[in-house]
Amino acid sequence: MNKEKREKLSLESKMVFYPPEPSSMSINNPIYMSSNFQYTAEIYQRVLDGERKTVNIYSRCGNPSEYKFEEQMTWIEGGDACLATASGMAAIATILFGLLKGGDHIVADWTTYSTTHEFLDHRFTDFGVETTFVDTANVDLVEKAIKPNTKVVYFETIANPTMKIPDIEAIVKMAHEKGIIVICDNTFASPYVFRPLDWGVDLVLESATKFICGHNDALGGAIIMKSEILPEDFMEQVRWSTLTKLGGALSPFNAWLLLRGIQTLHLRVERQCQNAARLAKYLDGHDKVGKVWYPGLESHPQHLIAKKLLPKFGAMLTFEVQDEPTAVRVLDSLELATFGASLGGVRTTTQVPSTMAFLDVPPEQKKQMNIRDGMIRISAGIEDADDIIADFSQAIAKI
Ligand SMILES: Cc1ncc(COP(=O)(O)O)c(C=O)c1O
Repeated sequence: MNKEKREKLSLESKMVFYPPEPSSMSINNPIYMSSNFQYTAEIYQRVLDGERKTVNIYSRCGNPSEYKFEEQMTWIEGGDACLATASGMAAIATILFGLLKGGDHIVADWTTYSTTHEFLDHRFTDFGVETTFVDTANVDLVEKAIKPNTKVVYFETIANPTMKIPDIEAIVKMAHEKGIIVICDNTFASPYVFRPLDWGVDLVLESATKFICGHNDALGGAIIMKSEILPEDFMEQVRWSTLTKLGGALSPFNAWLLLRGIQTLHLRVERQCQNAARLAKYLDGHDKVGKVWYPGLESHPQHLIAKKLLPKFGAMLTFEVQDEPTAVRVLDSLELATFGASLGGVRTTTQVPSTMAFLDVPPEQKKQMNIRDGMIRISAGIEDADDIIADFSQAIAKI
């Protein structure tokens, strides 16, 4: 299929289709389990001539299994280029180190994945990069935090655990007027629910470990770009300037698993969103449950932004019980849903964000992030919704 025809395919078809590997006509991309590749005199000369992009050298610099994953991610995010990484955090560290230097400034949302927050709040400061944390649901606060040395505005499409949604359209407009790059971690949404590049975001990050993989069996990450402010070859620049230095290359086997995951992403996430909506409705009416955070509920603070940006509302939700011991009791009583870390897989998975994802974040900062001790976060799976609701019902009945 030529590029023009492929461009016109729907998102679902783009997820399923990629052309066969030409030497074998295998419809699935081979796993190139090789750390290095043989040179010929001609390849050697091409490398010397600076054509590193067109040859395979060493898998830390790139591997054909990984290239196919990058190609698919570029298609499904509607981007121009992608860099695959060993994990979501490798994508985050690679893009931030690739873009910023000492003396630069970032404006980031108060609520990002805890390890991202710690990286910005502590580790990056050691290199002279400062971050101001604000509530990105309010574009005025973002604008007020901008300084002459601000290079990046950073947020998550749906932020953990309150499922907060920034005013992405307004932020992009304001930032681009000032020449500031906008980065969005889209992990909680996945490209099926939201494609940030379509809304003018410059760089999208995905922890492919989550919805893209979908089966809790591989780590991976991706940085995808479509930008008028960044140079066309920016992703290749970052590959050589930063990814090869930090060493966070995606493994060939994980690239293969993630490619397989992409092919069912739309089916899984569609069902996961339906299940999340059913769970949110059930929990919202439960007398032993406090607040429920789900972008599809009218009570959600960014419900109107959600309706505009991501009408599927995603597969993640949070509800509140009395306190942390009660939350643990509920989760320990679940028989079908899994009590554990991570999200986005086919199984419904639950955790206590305050003491799990955000364990190392000091109490004062958790308060700023609106993280409460009795919160329970759910990543809806693809099981039968009635079975999942029955499971939560029997677990909540025990408190
Ligand atoms: C929103 C978000 N971004 C990034 C990451 C990091 O991804 P990984 O665990 O693949 O490094 C996570 C992990 O949970 C996450 O939830």
